[in-house]
Amino acid sequence: MTVNNLAQASQDVHSYSKPKEAVAKHLDLDITVDFEKKILSGTATYQIKNLTKTNQIIFDTRGLKIEKVLLDEDTKETTFKLGNDDKVLGQPMFVDIKPETKTVTIHYSTTPEAAALQWLSPQQTAGKKHPFLFTQSQAILARTWIPIQDSPGIRITYSASVKVPKELMAVMSAENPKEKNETGEYKFLMQKAIPSYLMALSVGDLVFRPIGEQTGIYAEPATIEAAAYEFAEMDKMLVAAEKLYGKYRWNRYDLLVLPPSFPFGGMENPRLTFVTPTVLAKDRSLTSLIAHELAHSWSGNLVTNATWEDFWLNEGFTVYFERRIMEELYGKDYADMLEVLGYQDLQHTLDDLGRNSEDTRLKLELDGRDPDEGLTDIAYEKGNAYLVHIERAVGRDKFDAFLNKYFQTFAFGTTTTDRFLDFLNSELIKGDEKLAEQINADAWIYSAGLPEEHYTPASSLFAKVEETSQAWQQGTPAAQLNTKDWSSHEWLHFIRLLPEQMSQQKMADLDKAFNFTNSGNSEILAAWFLHAIRNNYITADQAMEIFLTSVGRRKFLVPIYKALIATPEGKKKALAIYAKARPNYHAVSTVTLDEMLK
Ligand code: BES
Ligand code: ZN
Repeated sequence: MTVNNLAQASQDVHSYSKPKEAVAKHLDLDITVDFEKKILSGTATYQIKNLTKTNQIIFDTRGLKIEKVLLDEDTKETTFKLGNDDKVLGQPMFVDIKPETKTVTIHYSTTPEAAALQWLSPQQTAGKKHPFLFTQSQAILARTWIPIQDSPGIRITYSASVKVPKELMAVMSAENPKEKNETGEYKFLMQKAIPSYLMALSVGDLVFRPIGEQTGIYAEPATIEAAAYEFAEMDKMLVAAEKLYGKYRWNRYDLLVLPPSFPFGGMENPRLTFVTPTVLAKDRSLTSLIAHELAHSWSGNLVTNATWEDFWLNEGFTVYFERRIMEELYGKDYADMLEVLGYQDLQHTLDDLGRNSEDTRLKLELDGRDPDEGLTDIAYEKGNAYLVHIERAVGRDKFDAFLNKYFQTFAFGTTTTDRFLDFLNSELIKGDEKLAEQINADAWIYSAGLPEEHYTPASSLFAKVEETSQAWQQGTPAAQLNTKDWSSHEWLHFIRLLPEQMSQQKMADLDKAFNFTNSGNSEILAAWFLHAIRNNYITADQAMEIFLTSVGRRKFLVPIYKALIATPEGKKKALAIYAKARPNYHAVSTVTLDEMLK
């Protein structure tokens, strides 16, 4: 790749900063968390490198109140300017510096509307006694709680001091406390350089429970038991992951279980994955999500997409890695089920976006758009399908060696589609034209749709589910079906296979036999509600309303609301529920739903 090419490739259309001129290297964050006013306030002090002896450094901000900026040891303020406010990108903050400036201290506060922050009332927590706060910085929301060079191509180390009410504890994507202290002041250190979207903070009534030597769980006291049971195997996952792709580079790996309004399934904040409580199914059936977030400790956190247009390098690699961990732990039959469900998601997304849509290419074009628009199953499942395709072309051993080397070579650095392809050429293809043709990078990465040569996964366990499904559709009563020992994945497959149109009697027959409406498994519930809505099965209405008003996970909310608004009566129902539920959702979810329901 030419230098010019590289410069272009790492140009981030979602950040105002100019890291090739002046770049932040280390952050000392000193903030106070005010639950009453719903603001954070304090200082962000940066050690900077002025590469071109410029007299300006640029940070990203969105909705921040900047009080003043100081340089080095000066007590006199320097001048700064906030540029035009863009709805998605926020405002650039131009700070006047000197060619020899080493540190920049920004005094600032957030506003209650900061999109990354969700402030929960005691009522919205498991314990109901204390308020709770968490951040969600990916993709470009770090700038709503810290003035920062907010591009995944820029890495910083950080330390932080966070003051919180005495009854609460603070945790971050860093070295964490294991218990509360008397002062309510917590210190953090992250000595490995990370991109801004991995800056994370949470504050609440938290306790810690170790799982292994290196692993453990933070949760509210009311949730810790259930979480410790559900995630008891996290240590084994770490062992499997290291065996596959090399040493874990972040020391500890802990989980933080959040209240149900958390908008995602999981977020791979370094050393401390944030996870939704909707995976607490009591049977460990949804823990592939932990394998996924853990895998990000390599794909994403260690080797990071340079811009959001290369999001597939984070997520596609992670899905591939996640399924390899699951295969290692639970065997091929188990992993095959996950692979098939993922393939179904991919087909669904391709139909949804249209197979000619440019958004079905792995390499995205997001200039002028919210990077959130790139957050589809394409990056995840087409990305994974491509890696499976390459694995099959070269053989698993060679591919594993390649991935190992890839993670080592680019560790604590960034990657782009071009960099990946260069590495593929030099390490695997090595001039073999036939292999290059087979790997077919152009078609996979730069073309829409799914290349025909893709591998179509199959699952022997699902084949049995399909037989059972047939039997039911041909009239065998639900209670007589052989569903013994089915995992939640088999149930999910069964529910997805149900016909679009079903009579009340058919719905009731299923529900009576399998109690879907009252399932404790969030994946099963979310899939079942779609049938309930389509078939006007009002028996499920109450459970659905409870689900929608307590759970904030966007992946579940969007399809359910979408199904509801397909009919006028459904739309009425949706709007009534949304009015009640909205205060419980994170901005990440309301941005999407406001648009859908307006
Ligand atoms: N990093 C993502 C979540 C994310 C992506 C947040 C883009 C904001 C912008 C995380 O690793 C993820 O993929 N979570 C999935 C779960 C996973 C098992 C597919 C989720 O939240 O559903
Ligand atoms: Zn992910």
